[in-house]
Amino acid sequence: MKIEELKALLKEMTIEEKVGQTIQLSADFFSDQSEDLTGPMNEMAMTEEKKYQVGSVLGISGAKETIQLQKRYMEKHRLHIPLLFMADIIHGDHTIFPIPLGLGATWNPDTVKKTAEISAKEAAAQGLHVTFSPMVDLVRDPRWGRVMEATGEDKLLNKRYARAFVEGYQGTDLKQDLTKLAACVKHFAGYGAPRGGRDYNSVDLNENTLREHYLPAYQEGIDAGAKLVMTAFNTIDNIPATGNKRLMRDILRDEMAFDGVLISDWGAIGELVPHGVAEDNKAAAIQALTVGVDIEMMSAAYSEHLIDLVEQDETLKELLDESVWNILRLKNDLGLFENPFRGADEETESLSVFSDENKKAALTTAEESIVLLENNGVLPLNQEEKIVLTGPLKDSNDILGAWSWKGDREQAATLAEMMGQRLGPDSLSIVDESQFFEGQNSFFMNEIHLSDTVIVALGESSEMSGEAASRTIISLPEYQMVLLRELKKLNKKVVAVLFNGRPLDLSGVVPLVDGLVEAWFPGTMGAEAVTNVLFGKFNPSGKLPMSFPRSVGQVPLAYNEDSTGRPMTDEKRNEKYLSRYLDSENTALYPFGFGRSYTSFDYSECTLSSQEISMETSLTISIEIKNTGKIKGIETVQVYVRDKVGEVVRPVKELIDFKKVELEAGESMTVEFEITEKQLRYTHADHSVRSDAGEFSIGIGTDSSAELTHSFYLEK
Ligand code: BGC
Repeated sequence: MKIEELKALLKEMTIEEKVGQTIQLSADFFSDQSEDLTGPMNEMAMTEEKKYQVGSVLGISGAKETIQLQKRYMEKHRLHIPLLFMADIIHGDHTIFPIPLGLGATWNPDTVKKTAEISAKEAAAQGLHVTFSPMVDLVRDPRWGRVMEATGEDKLLNKRYARAFVEGYQGTDLKQDLTKLAACVKHFAGYGAPRGGRDYNSVDLNENTLREHYLPAYQEGIDAGAKLVMTAFNTIDNIPATGNKRLMRDILRDEMAFDGVLISDWGAIGELVPHGVAEDNKAAAIQALTVGVDIEMMSAAYSEHLIDLVEQDETLKELLDESVWNILRLKNDLGLFENPFRGADEETESLSVFSDENKKAALTTAEESIVLLENNGVLPLNQEEKIVLTGPLKDSNDILGAWSWKGDREQAATLAEMMGQRLGPDSLSIVDESQFFEGQNSFFMNEIHLSDTVIVALGESSEMSGEAASRTIISLPEYQMVLLRELKKLNKKVVAVLFNGRPLDLSGVVPLVDGLVEAWFPGTMGAEAVTNVLFGKFNPSGKLPMSFPRSVGQVPLAYNEDSTGRPMTDEKRNEKYLSRYLDSENTALYPFGFGRSYTSFDYSECTLSSQEISMETSLTISIEIKNTGKIKGIETVQVYVRDKVGEVVRPVKELIDFKKVELEAGESMTVEFEITEKQLRYTHADHSVRSDAGEFSIGIGTDSSAELTHSFYLEK
């Protein structure tokens, strides 16, 4: 539709029709099942008539369902304005990829972009228009269950992934390319930093930190063209984000130049009441509309009050027009006025959903996401060994992880099945660990005694991470620890494979194992990927996107913490009055960027092309890397800098670039990075983002413990 026609449409709409556009209902409101909807309808202040005026529906899927509903809806709508269909396609639609934290561990934005393209293709064929993804919230606290949905603790990594997701979902032309979805960057802002790691809790971030670390990934998603932004449940500056004028108007709309649709998170407008910043739903509706929330997801403030409110208040009327305009533009950008069924097609759906090609991508992505944490020469396994597989997750297909509502666990093989396919019954014995706990352990003990290596599949169930799944204890469940301790006593080589959604406290685990494989929730093809890693068919290359703490007492924890006045260094190890713990190292058990390989890489000393850069000139830092092992491997080479003197306190180090390189056994390669002034900018006290002249330390390494061995000056 031409812009003039769209404007004419807006003019023609009644207030009721306009308010309808701002309301989003879940799919069950439209289901033909005879279940009693009176309760939910009342709660949402809905009538049958109003229902057929709402602008969007969430959580629907299937070409047949979306086509039917769109037809039914458009017949009833006076102006035939099509519905928008939205859903949480987070790490895959039917074909499930690793959880986003696992995607983060690939350190490969191209891989992530590919997963977004596939997800969009599967979902668009079912008639979906918008995915509530990417979640770009920066995370530093593994107690928070939603770290599984984040790509990690670092702003540079998060920025690159934010762009990759948005570009992958949206492509370059949403109107023409019917295999794409509009992306929704969430949750604006700071949702990844709830106090105490407890979901929905308030957030206490100073504005400098918010701007320096948290906002850049949202900005990158917006700059990449994301059509929607979702508000966060939490507070910023003690005001809930969903009713926070400064955050939404001054920062999001004005400074960050977002001009798409702002949607509330589920029920978040209504939650302004229990938050205690609005006395009732009416006041909440005024607040949310004033800050520019265009769509209310699943609370009743707009549906109950907006009509009366705008009839009495010209300013609110104009604000309503602004919101409806944003929504109509999105529908138009998706081409819905010309083609309300856009992409929904049962045949395409059956061809593109869970295709062999998509499964292959899920397999290679899962392989790339796996992080080898420990290996005392026990991995890869040798096909000749006698292996016992045990542990509660050995025959579990609960490996898709949270936020995989369309994924079917039945389609995911278990580790027992995949390893069984690889090894005959003579080499592999699958032993139920419950026998051990139930006291009838002679078979268990016998099999363990006969084996060379024991693989133990451990971790969390998928309900233990995700939304509303915060934990104060982040170690493995105690019975899993008991199992490991008993196995250790038997003097066997033990490899633990972990399926989980957060950095766990593994301090107790490390002394008990010879090999430790972090598989995250690896998705539909995860068990095959793990098997390929265990047998060396794939040489692991994943790197942690988030620090693994030594104990929960250290969290929140991140490698790029601010410099303190009393830093703890090796030389000062015996001093007391330092920023340190009495009972723990400050550092992570496994630092950000960490991950082993079956081969080894030797890093030469790095060289700088110059000791100086300026606003116009750059320098090159280079290093020679050699694969000193016996097999081909992939290494992620990471560059860290430290700004020696800033106007505000600067981090002890920061990732400024990285490259993934593949080297044959014995091969050497020079890896180069160009360093420019732009990479040295940071948020100053007045919130301007710029660099300062002065000295910087720099270093290259295999993870964030890299030493900053060189320095250079920025001249101005
Ligand atoms: C979550 C969002 C999600 C929405 C819709 C909320 O509870 O916080 O991330 O997109 O539900 O399912």
